[in-house]
Amino acid sequence: MITLTVRPLERADLVPTLAWSGGPGYLGELASRLDDVERGEMAYLAVVATLPVGLGGVVFGGDAGCIMQLAVLPALQSQGVGTMLIAALEAEIAARGLARAELDVEIVNPRARALYERLGYTVIGEAAASWPQRRPDGTEYLYETTVLRMARALE
Ligand SMILES: CC(C)(COP(=O)(O)OP(=O)(O)OC[C@H]1O[C@@H](n2cnc3c(N)ncnc32)[C@H](O)[C@@H]1OP(=O)(O)O)[C@@H](O)C(=O)NCCC(=O)NCCS
Repeated sequence: MITLTVRPLERADLVPTLAWSGGPGYLGELASRLDDVERGEMAYLAVVATLPVGLGGVVFGGDAGCIMQLAVLPALQSQGVGTMLIAALEAEIAARGLARAELDVEIVNPRARALYERLGYTVIGEAAASWPQRRPDGTEYLYETTVLRMARALE
């Protein structure tokens, strides 16, 4: 469920993620509007939403937890949400008394792989994988790919 609040726009809101509202150069325009607000010449409001912006699961089995289905809202990617999510999923694995985290990354996803390597994961294998996907017209097909299995020992 999305919770919405209306409040005055603040200077702290003026981050690059806000570019959706008018393009990259728009932040300067918003800053000058906030100058107008401070002079008492206008009001400027923001609708603020709380909603999930990152999702991921972990399957417990054997001596490891396998992290799966990591996804971050595109507008908020590259700002540390994924790193925070992975740390929290690793804590779930450790809380089960398991000593290793594993995850699969598609060979065609080098950016995600680089992130996992920065977080201490190393490649331990490679396998064919497939799962059902939908085309834009709604029809389903079997997506076939190659994934790298990566793992990290938890302290
Ligand atoms: C892969 C994914 C889950 C990573 O989540 P994320 O929130 O983008 O990851 P992070 O922000 O923690 O780290 C990624 C990047 O941000 C940088 N970063 C991390 N923390 C940061 C911070 N506090 N401030 C700025 N940048 C930061 C990292 O250096 C990294 O750089 P890159 O953009 O060049 O790769 C996400 O990008 C995603 O959903 N991608 C599409 C789906 C997908 O590929 N899922 C993975 C399947 S295995």
